[in-house]
Amino acid sequence: MGARPQFVKLAPIAKAAAAAGVEHVIVHTGQHYDPMLSDVFFEDLGIPAPDVHLGVGSGSHGVQTGAMLGALDAVFDEHDPDWVLVYGDTNSTLAAAVSAVKLHYPLAHLEAGLRSFNRRMPEEHNRVLTDHAADLCLAPTAVAMGHLANEGLAGRSLHVGDVMTDVLLQVRDAVAGAESDLVAELGLAPGDFHVATIHRAENTDDPTRLAEIAAALSSLEHPVVLLAHPRVVAKAATHGIELTRGSLVVHAPLAYPDLIAAVLSSRSVITDSGGLQKEAFLLRVPCTTVRPETEWVETVELGWNVLANTSSEIAAAVGRPAPQPTDATPYGDGRAAERVIETLLARARA
Ligand code: UD1
Repeated sequence: MGARPQFVKLAPIAKAAAAAGVEHVIVHTGQHYDPMLSDVFFEDLGIPAPDVHLGVGSGSHGVQTGAMLGALDAVFDEHDPDWVLVYGDTNSTLAAAVSAVKLHYPLAHLEAGLRSFNRRMPEEHNRVLTDHAADLCLAPTAVAMGHLANEGLAGRSLHVGDVMTDVLLQVRDAVAGAESDLVAELGLAPGDFHVATIHRAENTDDPTRLAEIAAALSSLEHPVVLLAHPRVVAKAATHGIELTRGSLVVHAPLAYPDLIAAVLSSRSVITDSGGLQKEAFLLRVPCTTVRPETEWVETVELGWNVLANTSSEIAAAVGRPAPQPTDATPYGDGRAAERVIETLLARARA
């Protein structure tokens, strides 16, 4: 792994592997290298330091993925793993998947079966290719299992639940009741501001699209704190788009516990992140997703997430009435990582 959301998923797996006495070699590709996108997750979530760090960094899709692929062959050959476990849908996922299958190492894909059906998204290419390369598809939801079955992959798929739920529930309990640092730092009134993240290529790379989103967020009634990924800051600077204006306040990305505390104090979340849509739902904070579709359809069906793209759709979604309470648990019971490790142990080569 190598990108921010993968460190969150790694945390419960590393813990479950250690508890089961499994030798677990952590390989960081270096896709994310800013301390706030990488190191803080290892520190806050108690993840052991990576055993191997490839230091690949940023680049176009081919250059970045190719550099990882080139470096991984020697790593896998040195460690001779019983399983290669890859996470999610980033370029790091695809590189490790391709390297593992080419070298005949058993490949398991965690968070398998998610689909947006939007072939413009780099994540959609990565997840489809990885699922079809994998020997074992570990699905977070029943919907994901359905997608895998539709693509002929039912025989190698298993519904284990969502490992992000494992971490979220633990961190929620740890930060509950404490004041959010973000609230204190920016002098916000609890319950009166929105937490926003925008980083997807589809929303940041086209200047017209990014300008439209910035304008929509800046004209909302309550303050909007944009926890800005380096990508959105870089694209806004290149295209001369002013992000701090009107209701919109730009802030650096937060460490995971600070993010959860901020979301718990917020009025609602506005995002194009997959993970944050689900975290908002699990914390029962309303979410507006700035995308035409979502992989986490359960959040929409249960009324806690609304898809919105134009300025008027975003304003209407953010201003909507509170959703109906629900006790549904489509993302599992918080014990997915244990199931993953049990499954890998049971199916390891002799
Ligand atoms: C990647 C994933 C995306 C995931 C996101 C989480 C792919 C195709 N995309 O997107 O699915 O939701 O991570 O954050 O793998 N940059 C920095 N510092 C860093 C990393 C990136 O400044 O530590 C900047 C660079 O300008 C870089 C740009 O962000 O070119 C994009 O980084 P990249 O790793 O290509 O993709 P993300 O947008 O982070």
